[in-house]
Amino acid sequence: MGINSKPVVFAVISALVILVGTVVTVFVPLFMPSTQPVSRFVKPYTAIEQEGRDIYMREGCNNCHTQTVRPLRTEVLRYGEYSKAEEFAWDRPFLWGSRRTGPDLNRIGGKYPDSWHYKHMQSPQGMFALSNMPPYGWLAANRLDVSNSFRKTRILGYGYSQEQVNQQIAEYKARVTASGYDSKETRDLVTPAGMRGDLTEMDAIIAYMQKLGRDVKSMEAKQ
Ligand code: HEC
Repeated sequence: MGINSKPVVFAVISALVILVGTVVTVFVPLFMPSTQPVSRFVKPYTAIEQEGRDIYMREGCNNCHTQTVRPLRTEVLRYGEYSKAEEFAWDRPFLWGSRRTGPDLNRIGGKYPDSWHYKHMQSPQGMFALSNMPPYGWLAANRLDVSNSFRKTRILGYGYSQEQVNQQIAEYKARVTASGYDSKETRDLVTPAGMRGDLTEMDAIIAYMQKLGRDVKSMEAKQ
């Protein structure tokens, strides 16, 4: 009599085999350092970039935009170097997404100047008549809430002190409100007069856009 005629034994043995297979192929790799590569070029988000990332999630930008360039010739030609595992070390949660109504954004940092983003966020259709991206100009009328910025960076394990977070916020504010800011003209155009001296949600989301993919560009430059 073979095992086929002993249903209970058969079920127990198959459950064991599947269990061992799952442990070996899923749980063992989960704890292997080689599946979690670290790069010294990939830096955590600054407090402002993190706020921008939160707004990106709040507005559901990830329902239309992916953040992962697949290793396919067409994608590499269009967006640049394909995404590497170490790039997402600080992404909690990651925003790879699956809907590509709009282009992938994983390499958007540095592709355009800030002024381009201010204009595009205010009116995508003003730049691409057929764009179905909704306009987000109202983000420039919302003062950026930084009251939880330090807590967020602490919970996410970025390792900044309260002073460092305050400094990051002050530096970014000084940068975008300076009279010499290279995108001042466009920022003033889209930001209500009363908000120009403040950090807005629009400023933060653009800081986040400009961060995406930049670490990889510096990684490639130094190789
Ligand atoms: C309904 C889908 C949709 C949503 C939601 C959406 N987008 Fe888009 N987005 C698009 C489409 C389509 C394009 C391509 C046409 C264009 O540039 O307007 C695009 C283009 C872009 C580009 C330019 C990409 C490039 O390489 O030229 C950026 C940056 C961008 N979106 C950011 C955002 C951000 C930030 C949000 C959330 C605040 C957002 N999008 C929400 C559909 C969307």
